[in-house]
Formats: sequence, C-alpha cells, structure tokens
Amino acid sequence: MTTLMKGGTVVNHDHAVRADVLIMDEKVLAIGHGLALPEGTQVVDVGGCYLLPGGIDPHTHLEFPFMDEVSVDDFEWGTKAALAGGTTSLIDFCVPRPGQSLLEALEDWRGKSRSAACDYGFHMAVTWWDRQVADEMGECVARHGINSFKHFMAYKGALMVNDEEMIQSFTRCGQLGALPMVHAENGDVVEHLQRQLFEAGNTGPEAHGYSRPPHVEGEATTRAIMIAAMTGTPLYVVHTSCRESHEAIAAARARGQRVYGEPLIQHLVLDAGEYQSTDWDHAAERVMSPPFRDKGHQDSLWAGLVGGSLQVVATDHCAFSRRQKRLGTDDFRRIPNGTGGLEDRMRVLWTAGVNSGRLTPEEFVAATSTNAARIFNMYPRKGAIRPGSDADIVVWDPGATTIIRAEGQVSRTEYNVFEGFACRGLPVMTFLRGTLANGAEGLLAEPGQGRYVARDPHPATTVANRIRFEATRPTPVGRRLELVP
Ligand code: URP
Ligand code: ZN
Ligand code: ZN
Ligand code: ZN
Repeated sequence: MTTLMKGGTVVNHDHAVRADVLIMDEKVLAIGHGLALPEGTQVVDVGGCYLLPGGIDPHTHLEFPFMDEVSVDDFEWGTKAALAGGTTSLIDFCVPRPGQSLLEALEDWRGKSRSAACDYGFHMAVTWWDRQVADEMGECVARHGINSFKHFMAYKGALMVNDEEMIQSFTRCGQLGALPMVHAENGDVVEHLQRQLFEAGNTGPEAHGYSRPPHVEGEATTRAIMIAAMTGTPLYVVHTSCRESHEAIAAARARGQRVYGEPLIQHLVLDAGEYQSTDWDHAAERVMSPPFRDKGHQDSLWAGLVGGSLQVVATDHCAFSRRQKRLGTDDFRRIPNGTGGLEDRMRVLWTAGVNSGRLTPEEFVAATSTNAARIFNMYPRKGAIRPGSDADIVVWDPGATTIIRAEGQVSRTEYNVFEGFACRGLPVMTFLRGTLANGAEGLLAEPGQGRYVARDPHPATTVANRIRFEATRPTPVGRRLELVP
C-alpha cells in the first residue's frame, strides 16, 4: 500500500521544504514534487500543514510500580495518549527492584508492553550493584537492544544508588558503549529536609517543593557530571528543571564533555505557584520530582534549548489517580511522585515555544524528536522524514486551536496539569509507520500495534570517549631503583 501526502511543508531538524511525501511499506520512499505514483496510491491532502517527524518521548513510566502504587496509564493507554499527541515512539524505564535480576525485570516490562499502540524501547535502571548486574548489563546491550542505563540519585531507601555504585555502573557503561543517565537529586539531602519540614508541621504538598530546592538538583547534576568525566563516559541528565542543573550541564559541554540535558514540558511552562493552591488535590496532583520551580528558571531552560546546551523535551509521564495522590493527605512524603503529559507535550511546546518565537519549527523538531533519536541511537530510522526512515509522520496544523481539558483526554487520570492551557498548533493526523493512528475520526491505533525498537550501542561516541580516556589514563612512572650507598 502506498500513500502520498500532498501539499505540505516537510520539517526536519535541519531544514524545512515544501514537498510531497510518498510512503510505501511503512517507510518514506521519496520526497519531492511530481513523484511517480504506483497504481492505487492513496492521496492525503495536507495543504497548509507541516509534516513533522513523529514525536519521540524518551522518558516515560507506564504501569510503573512506584511508592507503593502503580501508575495508572499502562502501555495501552499511555501509548494511545502519545499517539493522540503526535508522539509515535517512547522509551520507558525498566526498573528492577534493588536485588532483582535486570533480566527478570525486563521480562516483566516485556509482558506489560505487549499492549503498546505506538513504537517503544526501554532504558534499564541500575538500582543496586554486584557482579550479576554488570553481567546482565552486558546482556541487555548485546541481546536486548538496550543502550542506556538510568541511575536514581534520589529516592533513598528505595531506588537510590550511591557514588560507589554509580562509578561502577558508569564504568561498565563505558565498556559496553552504553549511555549512563541520571535522575539528579541528592537523596540524602532530600530525606533530611523532608524530615525537618515534616517535624516542623509542614505536612502539605507545598512541602514537597520545599524539600527539593534547586541546590539539591544542582549538586547531584554536578556530581554525576564529575563522575562521568572520571569514567570517560557521556551522560544524559533526565528532567533538568532548574538553572543550577542547566548551568552545570552547559559548563561541562563547554569543557568538551558529552553531557545531554532534558527539560520536561511541565517545567518549561508550569511553576512552583501551583503548590500554593489552597485546593489540596490541585497541589498534590502536581507533585513530581524534581518539583515545579520558580518562574525564573524557565528562561534558563528555554535558553538552553535554543543555545544547544539542552537537547530533548520529554514528559516523564508517570500518571497517578486522585485516589492515589490522596494517600499522602497527612504526609506529603507519601504522595506518589509523577504527572502526565504524553498527550500534551507537543501542542504545549509548539504554543509556548514556536508561537512565542523562542523556537523555530526546526528547533521544535529537534527537541521533540530528532535529538532523542540521535542520542539514543534510533536515527535516522526514527526522528527524520527522509527516504528510508519509518513513516512516522505528524500532520501539524499551525492554525488549529484547543483548550486543554482533562475531560475527554486519553490518559486514565481525572485531571490534567495543563488544564485550561490554550493551544494553537495541533497534530491533526498521526501516522505510525505509514498507518493512520489518530485523525479526525479519533484514535484508530490498536493495542499491540506498537513495535519494539532495539537500539545498538553508540560506536562513534564510545570510540571517541575511549580514545580521550586512554590518553589521560594514569600510568606508573618507570624508575630504576637506585640504592644510595
Ligand atoms: O516524580 C517523578 N518524576 N516520578 C517518576 C519517577 C522519576 O523520578 O522519574
Ligand atoms: Zn536474555
Ligand atoms: Zn526521575
Ligand atoms: Zn522519570
């Protein structure tokens, strides 16, 4: 089956051009004008619209067992929400319990992900350390298409790893050509502040924000960057939310380190004022880590996206119901951390970014798709509209408008942290490998239609980092022992 998308403007990260796109057998076959059409080609009129590479969200937690609960959007509903928002691929975190085999956790995630409606891959979390973990990391890379490993520097007593475990794991990543990732918050300091606040009578959701100030994130980001420098590995910092963390990343890049930063759409447009709401549910529904920041931090994050020190806009989609959030009514420390965003990421970023002139459409494509594809080694199969790429294409109408409402959303939560946000610029059709997954008729994607995207290690980065590392490796000084008579 062949499809021609006719009359649109194709936007890639480096170039935009008016052209038609011919799709055959799930792939982009040709881009241009007056293309020769095989008999029976279906023509889709996309006049006046942009054609964007399908969104890639490299940070989600679907059906995630966390803080004694399980996030409510599973692989079926999370991926459907993604498609409704123009995202055609996501990378979810497989998180073994401390002590659990990585491969056993992976089996678990494979089972859950069978209902995925969009394409997906996994990062593996390293939550403990010994010889078995090192071996299983090798198997993840060699046999399971996983080339990135996440480390939680927070959530003490649960998922947190210490510096010794990080240096071991980063070193192993270096051997495997894999990319270490960090959730950068100092978990010891967070626990200390949480206890102090709680004992002083701060029990409400606003204390979540107070207990995780920007310094907590800036310190951990800096520490992870320094450890990456000492192991000769690149580093990906998830949910960069504040100036302190961003500046640490920018400084490392200026020193020549391969460090990547990922602001979330939430932190770009929502701020700490949300926690001051007198409506407990409203505030608790916005509890996530890192928390929303004072508005001033947003300028830093936007500047990073334009200046190149931050690369990817993600969601960290980890949706909990109102009932689950209420488990922390008497103690903010028990409010499950996480918010949704898969359906909203692209339309909110376009509205706040492109319509305001902060981002060009090409920079929008880089932040929502191409950069993630490149960093996680899915490019150019994903992240581009070019011959040979998967035909993951979003038909984007820059004039279409909507106001975000929880009512009618795909996500299984009863609320939306972007409630009331007025969007201009919407995905009107989303094609997953050439098949219409979402359009005027609504969602057409079926659970199970998503395909696992195996990702190889990063040869170029690995080789370059290894050469630099070897060149500066400590070596013994050759001396002849001369005994003084
Ligand atoms: O609050 C958050 N971000 N929940 C999901 C787990 C994580 O830290 O990414
Ligand atoms: Zn295996
Ligand atoms: Zn995190
Ligand atoms: Zn996360």
